[in-house]
Amino acid sequence: MTIQSILARRIWDSRGRPTVEVEVVNADGTRGLGMAPAGASRGTREAVELRDGGQRFRGLDVQQALRGIEREIAPALIGRDAADQAGIDAALVGLDGTPNKSRLGGNALIATSLAVLHAAAAQARQPLWQYLAQGQPVQLPLPQVQVFGGGAHAGRRVDIQDFMVIATGARSFAQAMEMTAEVYRAAGEIMASRGALAGVADEGGWWPNFSRNEEALDTLVHAIVKAGYIPGDDVAIALDIAASEFGHGGRYRLGLDQEELDTDGLCERLLQWLERYPIVSIEDPLAEDDEAGLVAFTRAAGQRVQVVGDDYLVTSAQRVRAAAGLGACNCVLVKPNQAGTVTETKAALDAARELGYATIVSARSGETEDVAIVHLATGWNAGQLKVGSFARSERMAKWNEGIRLESRTPAPAGYAGRAALAPVGA
Ligand code: PGA
Ligand code: ZN
Repeated sequence: MTIQSILARRIWDSRGRPTVEVEVVNADGTRGLGMAPAGASRGTREAVELRDGGQRFRGLDVQQALRGIEREIAPALIGRDAADQAGIDAALVGLDGTPNKSRLGGNALIATSLAVLHAAAAQARQPLWQYLAQGQPVQLPLPQVQVFGGGAHAGRRVDIQDFMVIATGARSFAQAMEMTAEVYRAAGEIMASRGALAGVADEGGWWPNFSRNEEALDTLVHAIVKAGYIPGDDVAIALDIAASEFGHGGRYRLGLDQEELDTDGLCERLLQWLERYPIVSIEDPLAEDDEAGLVAFTRAAGQRVQVVGDDYLVTSAQRVRAAAGLGACNCVLVKPNQAGTVTETKAALDAARELGYATIVSARSGETEDVAIVHLATGWNAGQLKVGSFARSERMAKWNEGIRLESRTPAPAGYAGRAALAPVGA
């Protein structure tokens, strides 16, 4: 069955900014819709988002990206089979012709690639996760859910970007959501009782009205207890330090705590937090340019906790292999729009798995109602899923989709649970 038409349009993301949507229509009338998400704390090696610049919508419009889809991508793909994801993605990469996808835009490419994937699943009359699983037994992912949003998502009110929880005691995806809901609510009540409640950050986490980074961690533990759970047992903490946002060249400026740390100093601080708080996962503990620091931190902590590479690995199979050679990180954050196509995203995930790294499929801070990542995390058996907080429907749509997949027939083979965390068997 062949692709009959490809439509590109500008839609609006969860921050009210322009983004790219692509609709692929097959000859049998089935369709696929792909939407590009957008990050705020981006790695420098990510596929480049093509934005128009100039005055309009603060330079963020995507008319050039849409034109590229209409004039170059659509003519190249019409008549091809949507089921040939690898061939189509290779054609997209070839058409763009740049190493960082800056000519046609990573946003144009990922929206097209995801639309083709959805169209192929629709053509096969299968839910996307099942189409991706190809008959293999796969599990619903362990969710990482943000409770406080900081860093670039909250006007840098605190340095650390994501204060998250993982319901390690849950035995199903639905139960993980129940437990998370109680902790999220308890955290809001604590903030309200202190007169510190001030709405939410970009991914729906409570606005981080704290005077020290540690205060956010203390409040998170308090919220877990207030919700009736045992910290570290029922519900544990996951952090995304997003250190590339406040550190370069081995110098880290913690604005909130008004101090500057070197690589050793930041490692030491984080290792202290690992002693004091029930943390099971820590993402981008050092900046993307601090490879020696990431290796040292993984050596010091990687036997006990999950060390996740986001900005440093940018969903690149090649970078994952290089990191494994050095012993940096033990888990890969997988973001389709960092890679730019579905096939390259899957290659990064496969490389991670081959090398014994855990994987987390992740949304971006700028999202849409698209729930594809839940299907990718499940169908690819990634083990873990990171979507942002427990508020705002661009986030809840994804959590709710996980609940749907778990309760429908056919359902995935089970729920990954805490066993999905690196290091394996910890
Ligand atoms: P971003 O944040 O989407 O703004 O890059 C998410 C993350 O850092 O994991
Ligand atoms: Zn991150």
